Amino acid sequence: MAETPSCTILVGSLRKDSINKAAADCASEYLKGRFTLYRPDLSGLPPFNQDVEDAGDPPAVADLKAAVLDSELILIFSPEYNYGIPGVLKNAVDWLSRPFRAGSLVGKAVGITSVTPGSRGGENTREQLLQTCGVLTERLYQVTLGIPNVLELDDGAIPELARSALRDWLGEVIEFSQNAPETNDF
Ligand SMILES: Cc1cc2nc3c(=O)[nH]c(=O)nc-3n(C[C@H](O)[C@H](O)[C@H](O)COP(=O)(O)O)c2cc1C
Repeated sequence: MAETPSCTILVGSLRKDSINKAAADCASEYLKGRFTLYRPDLSGLPPFNQDVEDAGDPPAVADLKAAVLDSELILIFSPEYNYGIPGVLKNAVDWLSRPFRAGSLVGKAVGITSVTPGSRGGENTREQLLQTCGVLTERLYQVTLGIPNVLELDDGAIPELARSALRDWLGEVIEFSQNAPETNDF
């Protein structure tokens, strides 16, 4: 029997009651059984520093890279902070980008979601993540998912409308991850 594929889920909010974390929880629920799931804690990553990198990846960085390297699919759930990518997530992606042109994301299918209370579904953070991840993997799913107007959680979960949109998008991303060829023109 084929080995279960793995998926790493990165969440750009450290907040306990984060709506993006709640969306990642919903995705985990949907994916469990089909994927081995990794949910690395980004709060323990040191700020990227090339001197630290030169001395050897700290354990939290090594763990993050190991999860991503073992995964076929990487899913990002992130809020938008000041029209951009939250520092904690950008820091994680910067670590994953190393070594230059041979980072952990090379060849990985990547999907991007942003859940926001506002009406624009984190369009800036999604656009910036497309730009950043687009130089780190050739298998980036270009259709990002913005889930706007999520003002509160329902017993810890995103609303059913949002869950339904997320499930549909996850189906597309999984299909993409299984079929999108590696182009090697990177
Ligand atoms: C520092 C900061 C900056 C923010 N900037 C934006 C923004 O540019 N656009 C936006 O739609 N929401 C912005 N927000 C609101 C977040 O979308 C909102 O707090 C959201 O719930 C954060 O995601 P989380 O629940 O996953 O932690 C900002 C929030 C914070 C704390």
